[in-house]
Amino acid sequence: MVDLRTEFAGLKLKNPIIISSSGLTSSADKNEKLEMAGAGAIVLKSLFEEQIMLKAQQTNEAAYYPEGGNFLTEHLNAQDLAEYLKLIQESKKRCSIPIIASINCCTNKEWVEFARKIEFAGADAIELNILSIQASPYYECGEFEKRHIDILNSVKSKIHIPIIIKLGIHLTNPVSLVSKLRASGAEGIVMFNRLYQTDIDIKKLEFISGEVLSSASDLTPSLRWIGISSATVGNIDYAASGGVHSAEGAIKSILVGASAAEICSVIYKNGNQCIHPMLQYIECWMRGKGYENISQFKGLLKAKDVNCTNMYERTQFLRYFSERE
Ligand SMILES: Cc1cc2nc3c(=O)[nH]c(=O)nc-3n(C[C@H](O)[C@H](O)[C@H](O)COP(=O)(O)O)c2cc1C
Repeated sequence: MVDLRTEFAGLKLKNPIIISSSGLTSSADKNEKLEMAGAGAIVLKSLFEEQIMLKAQQTNEAAYYPEGGNFLTEHLNAQDLAEYLKLIQESKKRCSIPIIASINCCTNKEWVEFARKIEFAGADAIELNILSIQASPYYECGEFEKRHIDILNSVKSKIHIPIIIKLGIHLTNPVSLVSKLRASGAEGIVMFNRLYQTDIDIKKLEFISGEVLSSASDLTPSLRWIGISSATVGNIDYAASGGVHSAEGAIKSILVGASAAEICSVIYKNGNQCIHPMLQYIECWMRGKGYENISQFKGLLKAKDVNCTNMYERTQFLRYFSERE
């Protein structure tokens, strides 16, 4: 008998497939259907720091976010913090799997107080998606990484539920950051968030949105960094995010050391009904390999010698490109 149970950030999951924060998880009704389709846990659609600050400060976006434009006013005014707490409460009532709240943030300002309400509403954990582009010429290296720790410390001082940090991809050394986050009490790491993709319309000479949904080849950075990080920083759980489009992607993520895989684009593309076959495939693959539970293959392919990572990357790069004339 194959056992798909896993543990992520102190949460017990019946299987390693977590639904990523997105419009897919924006109502209790959708979340109940995702559980029925086989999801192991759900990360709710993010509340943005700006939404909380706007409400808390009773200010307008022009003062706080001068370059935000009309979109921010309309979008933020349309939201209600109470509705988010209701989403947590309703989802908890209708689902038996873990419900993880999500905040998209970039500072540790007053919004962190709201984390208490999220805990009180019954969320099993909170995922902090720390999203900010660093492009100032006056930026000092390491400032953004330090901000992750400050945000974690501030939220940690308010709540007791597990805190999961969803990292962006543009970090110089995710391993060092994960090590510091673990030391500051983070229970889980998600690698990686997907940034807004930009493109250009060359007829209109305008910036336009690039591809919103990922593809399977986007999984590479998560495999690389979970593989290196899980080999180096233990006592913290990892989940892959970005390009898990199949059971194979989830299996690869676990092989490099992840406890779970967050999925989003594949459900937008194929619907909730893709979850069950993914689980069946994982079970079938495990049976074929003689594995009875997830821990028997978790981390089997994590980095073997982290001191040689740089040499390995450099030689593979050299070989890969020198072979292609
Ligand atoms: C339409 C859409 C909405 C999203 N909304 C959020 C969000 O509110 N908060 C968040 O942390 N990530 C959000 N994401 C990012 C996803 O949670 C996920 O990290 C990303 O899409 C990569 O996973 P995937 O390759 O499985 O799609 C969104 C993604 C999409 C496509």
